[in-house]
Amino acid sequence: MRTLITNGTIVTADGSYVADVLIDGETIAQIGRDPAGASVTADQTLDATGKYVIPGGIDVHTHMELPFGGTFAKDTFETGTRAAAFGGTTTIVDFAVQGRGQSLREGLDAWHAKAEGNAVADYGFHMIMSDVNDSTLAEMDALVTEGVPDFKLFTAYPGVFYSDDGAILRAMQQTAGNGGLIMMHAENGMAIDVVAAQTMAAGTTDPIGHGLARKAVFEGEATNRVIRLAEAAGVPVYIVHLSAREALDEVRAARDRGSPVFAETCPQYLFLSLDDLGNGFEGAKFVCSPPLRTKDHWDDLWGGLLKDDLQLVATDHCPFDFHGQKDLGRGDFRKVPNGLPGVEDRIDLLHDGGVVAGRISKERWVEIVSTAPAKLFGMFPRKGTIAVGSDADLVIYDPDRRRTISAASHHMDVDYSCYEGRTVQGASDVVMSRGSVIVRDGEFTGRKGHGQFVRRARADHARLS
Ligand code: URP
Ligand code: ZN
Ligand code: ZN
Repeated sequence: MRTLITNGTIVTADGSYVADVLIDGETIAQIGRDPAGASVTADQTLDATGKYVIPGGIDVHTHMELPFGGTFAKDTFETGTRAAAFGGTTTIVDFAVQGRGQSLREGLDAWHAKAEGNAVADYGFHMIMSDVNDSTLAEMDALVTEGVPDFKLFTAYPGVFYSDDGAILRAMQQTAGNGGLIMMHAENGMAIDVVAAQTMAAGTTDPIGHGLARKAVFEGEATNRVIRLAEAAGVPVYIVHLSAREALDEVRAARDRGSPVFAETCPQYLFLSLDDLGNGFEGAKFVCSPPLRTKDHWDDLWGGLLKDDLQLVATDHCPFDFHGQKDLGRGDFRKVPNGLPGVEDRIDLLHDGGVVAGRISKERWVEIVSTAPAKLFGMFPRKGTIAVGSDADLVIYDPDRRRTISAASHHMDVDYSCYEGRTVQGASDVVMSRGSVIVRDGEFTGRKGHGQFVRRARADHARLS
């Protein structure tokens, strides 16, 4: 199958220009200026006049079917990758979970079983390590060679995913030898649990207590601590879902002293705030960790994205229904399952709030939603760019079309939207995954099982820092 996309503005992290793109099979075969398509033959032609052609989005932080707080994140690999595709994201990297007492292999096999034959777009895995011991440390090396080269550890969630500093250091030392990457959830979980119990005892049981207890200083402290541990071990470290200026300051300081430290933020920390947590139990819709911060953090985070102290935006997509899941925490904010839906809205929110609002260029937008994730997570140049030989994961994007976000029209399997009623400018018209059109003009045209496991390489983090 050959597809010709004509007359679009190709936008990559490096620049923009008008050209045609020829796709042959699953990859990009030619890029050039042939407005009438006269010299090439194709089975189908897609006119992209007045539109952008961008590399498919890559969301490196999702949790399909994550077990959390006595329930499971609701999207499956089928519904989650389908929703992602509607929003222009053609690759996700999800977190396989090693439960306590399990091997990494058991956790990874379980995640392969969830995804294989179900995903509509490509997917990779990171590994959540919640039990660091001699045997799981040894297993890390094998995973790196199998295309799962990153490991997430937590200074948060004592009794669940939490690792102490010694365990984190050991995992980092192992990674120094195998070339993988340590990803850190950096919040001081022990301190948070103390303040959360005090908040409850003082009578604050609603979700606002979640935001008050999980103080920004606890994120800053943990971020500094894990960076220092990584420096001691001599490994790169990646801070997930950075929400606060206190943490950003630590990342910037580390990068300024030459350490290979990377960080992502998420749309919820750029567009939502502590105010959203404050509306009685409705605030449960906005419970995630780290929590939403006060609005004055937004400008710092946008500044971090502009100056590359933050390299990318991922969603931390982890959806729980308001009715039947979030309400497990009625009367005790500590029992609200942590996580927000978002995989469908990332690219449009960042186009609207970033490019249209004049905060970042369209090239930087492409970089933070696609190119930087591909580079940092071992998928470049197969993904994350528009180049001959790259996978034809492409989006024809209308930068002018406006749409209103709503649970009534979104495709995520969750009964509410954090952005209900917000109108954004910019939307995906056509979404291609490895040469197949999987979304066109609001209709799903893909198929369950099309999505393939992406065996990722070790990235050269020293060169990328
Ligand atoms: O609230 C969140 N972030 N839920 C998902 C688990 C995690 O910590 O990423
Ligand atoms: Zn986390
Ligand atoms: Zn997460």
